[in-house]
Amino acid sequence: MGRIVYVNGEYVPEEEARVSVFDRGFLFADGVYEVTSVIGGRLVDFDGHARRLWRSLGELDMAAPVDGDELLAIHRELVVRNGLDEGLVYLQVTRGPADRDFAYPDGARPTLVLFTQEKRIVDSPAAERGIAVISIPDRRWGRRDIKTVQLLYPSMGKMMAKAAGVDDAWMVEDGAVTEGTSNNAYIVTAGKIVTRHLGEEILHGITRAAVLRFAREAQMEVEERAFTLDEAKAADEAFVTSASTFVTPVVEIDGVAVGSGAPGPVARRLREIYLDESVKAAV
Ligand code: PDD
Repeated sequence: MGRIVYVNGEYVPEEEARVSVFDRGFLFADGVYEVTSVIGGRLVDFDGHARRLWRSLGELDMAAPVDGDELLAIHRELVVRNGLDEGLVYLQVTRGPADRDFAYPDGARPTLVLFTQEKRIVDSPAAERGIAVISIPDRRWGRRDIKTVQLLYPSMGKMMAKAAGVDDAWMVEDGAVTEGTSNNAYIVTAGKIVTRHLGEEILHGITRAAVLRFAREAQMEVEERAFTLDEAKAADEAFVTSASTFVTPVVEIDGVAVGSGAPGPVARRLREIYLDESVKAAV
């Protein structure tokens, strides 16, 4: 049986869901999105994702189609209607349909689409064994802090990783690692957790914010700064975070084993804490 998806105020079978061919999300990638994980039928860090959505919309002068209460109600209704226990809710807002014109149209009605995706995210083989990555140049646009749907370069990066027989790619700019194709990147070196500082060069991960908070609460030292690929290859541990992978160890970079070449204690501990705390606070 197909899913029930949400489109502009209606819950419809997925095969009946429709968006206009004139939608600016389709024509210009003029849209933003969020991915929220679901564990035990409840939403992980919903408030964080909602806050980032408002920020993305604000940066693009795009109208919010619903308020925060309604957004939560739609997420919950969709989880219930699809009987989703574990997986993700994908949300996308676009500027809406309008005659094709580069300038933003006046008075377009935003398009709001949400759907669920079942996925085993807690017991993950990738988290157990750790993932291998290659490095690639970061060729994305300059406002990576806005979570837009223009994901072609990250898709190309995944394909480069696939062609190289590994799991993912870390992107490098001016000699420093920015982030993974769809996750934030970290190393553990000299007893500290190091991850790139916030700015326009990376997405401000919601999982990142939570993991850094938990790490500090557990008296682990955190340094938010750029790090190089060489530093990463020589690090004791490396890992990535995202809503769909939580904390996942990286055990190989460009064919070089990181640390022992197996998931390390810091990444394992952070994954445990993150899962415990997130499940407790899920709504
Ligand atoms: N991606 N950096 C990039 C480029 C991302 O695409 C993502 C998330 C993250 C991590 O952000 P968060 O912790 O808020 O999920 C960092 C989502 C999961 C995706 O595109 O599927």
